[in-house]
Amino acid sequence: MADVKVGLQDVVIATSEICSIDGQRGILTYRGYNIHDLAEHASFEEVVYLLWHGRLPKRAELDELRTQLAENGPISAEIVDLLKRLPPPQHPMETLRTVVSALSLYDPEAEDMSDEANRRKALRLTGQMGTVVAAFARIREGKEVVSPDPHLNHAANFLYMLQGKAPDQEIAHWFDVALTLHADHSYNASTFAARVTASTLSDMHSAVTSAIGTLKGPLHGGANEQVMKMLLEIQTVDRAEDYVRSLLAQKKKIMGFGHRVYHTEDPRATVLRKMSEALGRRAGQPEWFGMSKKIEDLMIREKKINANVDFYSASAYYVMGIPVDLYPLVFAVSRIAGWTAHVLEQYAHNKLIRPLAEYTGPTNLKCVPLDER
Ligand code: COA
Repeated sequence: MADVKVGLQDVVIATSEICSIDGQRGILTYRGYNIHDLAEHASFEEVVYLLWHGRLPKRAELDELRTQLAENGPISAEIVDLLKRLPPPQHPMETLRTVVSALSLYDPEAEDMSDEANRRKALRLTGQMGTVVAAFARIREGKEVVSPDPHLNHAANFLYMLQGKAPDQEIAHWFDVALTLHADHSYNASTFAARVTASTLSDMHSAVTSAIGTLKGPLHGGANEQVMKMLLEIQTVDRAEDYVRSLLAQKKKIMGFGHRVYHTEDPRATVLRKMSEALGRRAGQPEWFGMSKKIEDLMIREKKINANVDFYSASAYYVMGIPVDLYPLVFAVSRIAGWTAHVLEQYAHNKLIRPLAEYTGPTNLKCVPLDER
């Protein structure tokens, strides 16, 4: 029997220059920069540039990227029409997956595999992801689609297109930080899916569509939505501990806790905890943070399991007024930067990703003709 590594746990399958995670010490870096440093000193657009180009932009380069993202933000009338004609999904991630896949049909460079064309597609996909999500959200509420405002940054623009008014400075700042924190995470499941697709030399839209399908699962990008549903069910701080204890007694997993790579606090949770507390207090809704803190303390005390990126983002997004079922889509609005950086890296040093499986089924069976079975 071969040494089977179920779930590829702890298997190093490639080298990458994009992102590193030290799961023992809880350190996450993008291109060598600590995530806490970036969250404090860089905007999401600077992080996008860093992920794509391997270094932080100079001012003129950043201005150019901002202009390009703004130019590539609007979606075509055909895509708006498609969003209006698609049936209501059982989950909005179905719509995002479908529409991002459809974007390739309107992209004249969809099948152009040159590095320049792939970089332009990365720009278009990053520019348009938030526009698609916001347009979907407004259409389902029977509201007019709001076009991006080229004067707003990427984070503020998303909230503007979603809510119809520009967010105030503090919310815009925190949302920008949230986008930075979610922008990449090495070979997580959705990025790995994107790289597997890219490794067959399939196109960038296909790779990103694979990634969205993978992000959709509750063990990955769907977790923060489940966290908020749990908090909404708990309702009051004093009920939080009993509620979670009862789930644990039923051997259920608590969403927003645990991680394949971190064996200590997820460094993104450290910042998101502050965000949840600050925004909750400011919105006059401290209870969501209060419940979250009680649950976190209990999980650490009794299970020694830490909160991950999805735990405090849930309550932070809630008080920002983002609809709960859009949380995984908001993840995609940010992670598109990392997915595309990884797809570009995969193309640049491609080797087909094709692991093996140890066969454990029956052997030497004889095929009995249909009518004799
Ligand atoms: N709640 C309760 N127990 C948990 C837990 C959670 N959220 N996460 C892990 N555990 C426990 C498991 O029950 C298991 O215990 P056991 O060894 O007694 O059976 C142990 O910790 C290892 O968990 P496992 O699921 O095998 O680890 P994994 O590396 O395969 O999974 C996750 C990692 C993220 C999928 C897992 O922690 C999880 O399902 N978390 C909830 C979903 C979530 O928040 N996902 C977002 C990740 S950023």
